[in-house]
Amino acid sequence: MRIPLIAANWKLHKDVGEALHFVEELAPRVADVEGTDVVIAPPFTALEPLKGAVAGTPLKLAGQNVSPELQGAFTGEISVQMLLDVGCSYVIVGHSERRTLFGETSELVAQKAAASQQGGLRPIVCVGESLEERAGGRTFAVVGEQVERSLARIEPAQADQLVLAYEPVWAIGTGHNATPEQAQEVHGFIREQLRKSIGEVAGRIRIIYGGSVKPENIFVLMEQPDIDGALVGGASLDPASFFAIIRFDRPPGEATA
Ligand code: 13P
Repeated sequence: MRIPLIAANWKLHKDVGEALHFVEELAPRVADVEGTDVVIAPPFTALEPLKGAVAGTPLKLAGQNVSPELQGAFTGEISVQMLLDVGCSYVIVGHSERRTLFGETSELVAQKAAASQQGGLRPIVCVGESLEERAGGRTFAVVGEQVERSLARIEPAQADQLVLAYEPVWAIGTGHNATPEQAQEVHGFIREQLRKSIGEVAGRIRIIYGGSVKPENIFVLMEQPDIDGALVGGASLDPASFFAIIRFDRPPGEATA
């Protein structure tokens, strides 16, 4: 019922040449991948060149960030319309690196998510607790509040276009992924919270996991009932490793075969 979504978040990696080379390597491998949405979020500078490279392939493009503003005097910003223009169909909003390093609040994330939804770009809204918050027993309180505030401006009628990404901050780039049980516990909690606030559409919203996803652990994560895909950082930079994650239905050991 929910189509799995595997997304690459390249963060501050790859120039145009490297991005094109990656897609040249990946595109033939994914040509016959069916039933999974595969998304690449390169740096802004690589979007326009990749628009041509992904045409005719199952690959879709995402921005890593977006302005809540439509246009105007906002130096350094990129609008929803600009992302659509260079071929994006998704955009990541509220990544923990944006929240912690660049001071983004859930209120700002809500504005970005709403602007994206209104403009026809599917927002991938990120939430997740820090190590300190988890150790203090505050995981559900923190994630629950982030979900509520970040989605405060979302139009429930179009909520099935929304993607939630649960990325525990302590699992990002550390090599310490959440166990499938830890991730499922939070994904189930998020879905229940969505059900209470926007109703049955919650069953159609994809909730993907991020944080040290690798070919070796994707299989067991995807076995969980409320994990609908992955947002992959480091392991998405290499086409072979990202492709092994896209083939998440292979048991461990076969994934990289
Ligand atoms: P890593 O896969 O490198 O842990 O990064 C996760 C992430 O932040 C994806 O958005």
